[in-house]
Amino acid sequence: MIIRLLRMRHNSKCDGLLGLLFCILLSYSAAQSQSSGFGRAGSLAQTPPRGWNSYDSFSWIVSEQEFLQNAEFVAANLSKHGYEYVVVDFLWYRRLEPGASVSSPGHEVIDECGRLVPDPLRWPSTVGAKGFKPIADKVHAMGLKFGIHVMRGISAQAVNSDTKICKPVPGSDDKEDCPWTAKDVAVLGTDCGWMKRCFMSVNTSHEGGLVFLDSLYQQYADWGVDFIKHDCVFGAADLSVGEITAVSQAITKTGRPIVYSLSPGVRATPSMGKDVADLVHMYRVTGDDWDTWRDVLLHFGVARDFAAAGLVGAPGLQGGRSWPDLDMLPLGWLTDPGAPYGPNRSSSLTKAEQRTQVTLWSIAKSPLMFGGDLRHIDAWTLDLITNPTVLEINSHSTHNNEFRSSPDGFLPVVKLDDCGAVTSTRWSLQRGTDRHVQVCWSLSSKPKYSGNARSSRLSGCLNWTEWSSMAYELMRSSISGGGLLWKEAGGRDRLCLFADNKEGSSGFGFCNHNTSKVWHLTKMGRLIFEEAGLCATVEQPNRGWRIWAARGKSDQAYVAFFNLEEKAQTITIPLQEVLDNLKLSSLRGRALDYITHAVSVMTLQIWEQLTEAFQFIASKLYFQQYNYEAFPEWTCSGMDVWEGKPIPEASLSSHLVASVEPHGTLLVELNCVRKPKLNLTGAYVLSALGLALIVAGIGLRVWQVLADRLAFKSQQR
Ligand SMILES: *[C@@H]1O[C@H](CO)[C@@H](O)[C@H](O)[C@H]1NC(C)=O
Ligand SMILES: *[C@@H]1O[C@H](CO)[C@@H](O)[C@H](O)[C@H]1NC(C)=O
Ligand SMILES: *[C@@H]1O[C@H](CO)[C@@H](O)[C@H](O)[C@H]1NC(C)=O
Ligand SMILES: *[C@@H]1O[C@H](CO)[C@@H](O)[C@H](O)[C@H]1NC(C)=O
Ligand SMILES: *[C@@H]1O[C@H](CO)[C@@H](O)[C@H](O)[C@H]1NC(C)=O
Repeated sequence: MIIRLLRMRHNSKCDGLLGLLFCILLSYSAAQSQSSGFGRAGSLAQTPPRGWNSYDSFSWIVSEQEFLQNAEFVAANLSKHGYEYVVVDFLWYRRLEPGASVSSPGHEVIDECGRLVPDPLRWPSTVGAKGFKPIADKVHAMGLKFGIHVMRGISAQAVNSDTKICKPVPGSDDKEDCPWTAKDVAVLGTDCGWMKRCFMSVNTSHEGGLVFLDSLYQQYADWGVDFIKHDCVFGAADLSVGEITAVSQAITKTGRPIVYSLSPGVRATPSMGKDVADLVHMYRVTGDDWDTWRDVLLHFGVARDFAAAGLVGAPGLQGGRSWPDLDMLPLGWLTDPGAPYGPNRSSSLTKAEQRTQVTLWSIAKSPLMFGGDLRHIDAWTLDLITNPTVLEINSHSTHNNEFRSSPDGFLPVVKLDDCGAVTSTRWSLQRGTDRHVQVCWSLSSKPKYSGNARSSRLSGCLNWTEWSSMAYELMRSSISGGGLLWKEAGGRDRLCLFADNKEGSSGFGFCNHNTSKVWHLTKMGRLIFEEAGLCATVEQPNRGWRIWAARGKSDQAYVAFFNLEEKAQTITIPLQEVLDNLKLSSLRGRALDYITHAVSVMTLQIWEQLTEAFQFIASKLYFQQYNYEAFPEWTCSGMDVWEGKPIPEASLSSHLVASVEPHGTLLVELNCVRKPKLNLTGAYVLSALGLALIVAGIGLRVWQVLADRLAFKSQQR
């Protein structure tokens, strides 16, 4: 800004006294607009950011033309729905040439200071050391914001060629001081786990490391970048709070309002989220999401946990907010993960599954970044991502939480068969936490249960409980004489695996003697129901259902029923529980209704005292047996958001009840008010009578007093 002021001095407008005054005004307004630029940073990501990202449709090979065509679609058709960021995903600096792939080092285009430059063949407008500035300008001209993806730290190629690391010389615009090289600031041996040998961390305890990051992010700000997706610094394997902090500060120093996003977040936990929430605006909480039902399923647990930890919309960078990010929406026209050939297929999720995904993402308030190639989007998918109520929920609802799930959690489906099937040899004995003995299965061919994310989807454990006094022979990997306990919770909730000899069936039931003493685990990994000589196999974990709720701006309740099973099921919830959960149970409704209700109840009580004819009159007025209570009851109306149809009253009496299609979602907008149950016309008449009675009574009394006084006075005379 000082530079701007100085330059303005040379402006001809600043000559003479008037000119000087004008000039001061000008620089004042320049300073104002500059500081409002800082001000805007404080209001960044007040709602979950929304936009388009190139990854799901182009992997890393997107070109300038493909990118800008998608941006044009966003500007024309999606920006009115709040989609404003268009983001170039990874490897925009890698030459698309033979030998180059997602994991190939040495194909980067870098400048003499080790900073990455867009591949000139794919991004022709950037040629001539212009960086992404020309692209950002075009995106801004469309009324959108421009984003890029960057990897952790510094590129291996910069380190291998030991480029210089420079800092600007204070007071000089173009001179730089370059006291270090890339090898001074890189931390060798800190490869990004999923892209080996290409990038490594920089040393954020080294002045040169911080100078490098500052110069990098200043360059992005100079290009006009509005959104940075920073990869390989978050999640269980890659967590680097040091680098996130340094980049967060570097972004703040640029003074440009830039949304700071972290990705991916493999096995991220809420405590990791708490460590970074105020350094960023959004952070991924899962690995990559692709268009499979399994990937959609994996998001229910994390979405619930991050919402329960109060991290949704928590304070973020520079006074903005931060959002747990469930990843892009791989819907519409897509490519394959890591593929070098661009989009050539449709999303493989069913329509029901796509609605489920968009509903969960919205009600969990995840950022919504569409991943499909918009040049080939179909009308159905466009409607899916622009449903006004769903987007309203995503932006403005509060109290978002998963507040019910099927009581049995993820009950596995256990079948019995003769012991010939290979799938019957996938049981093993494990030590759980606190040295608990567990009997585990694996649906994959790997015989042993392992804790990693992919196989744990296909695996699970039952807790062995010593049910009778009979001993079990743990040392020999063989157990008998106990129950296989599914649910540890006390009392009647304890569920055990049982088998029925006559029917050859099995399942889970309350633990009792019938569910004990029947299982024998062999060294071969078979779990045998001894009475019948049958082996247990786990077919398919039963995923049950989930219910999410959120509260709207005008006190609507939004309720989402998620059916995670492959068959339709009926889901139900008492309305009162929804309203309690969303803290909507306080008195609501028209003030006049309440007053009328209160007055008519009072009147009824007075009348009851006054006259025996009351019963008769009241029943005439109400056309029914009178029935009053201290507070009026809830009345709710509901709208099926996806179908745009009202929910039948029969499904909304005291419970919301609905049959939900396989893998599908019912999203309902509920409007509930406490309405007096009394017939209102009758109540108004009664109230009027009551008021008249009271007024008449007071009048009578006043008249009596006055009359007495008058009589007294005339007596005195
Ligand atoms: C906006 O959407 C319509 C309908 O899908 C499409 O025909 C049009 O080309 C889109 N506009 C742009 C600029 O892509
Ligand atoms: C980082 O830099 C500091 C200061 O120069 C140095 O003491 C430290 O050893 C470096 N750490 C690594 C991992 O290189
Ligand atoms: C997409 O293109 C790739 C490469 O040409 C090919 O292997 C793949 O089968 C194609 N997918 C579809 C669904 O056509
Ligand atoms: C088994 O026991 C462990 C330790 O008590 C507990 O954390 C876990 O939830 C139990 N698992 C099941 C399926 O009940
Ligand atoms: C065991 O199961 C049989 C029928 O399967 C039932 O009649 C009996 O009551 C059960 N015993 C206990 C202790 O629950």
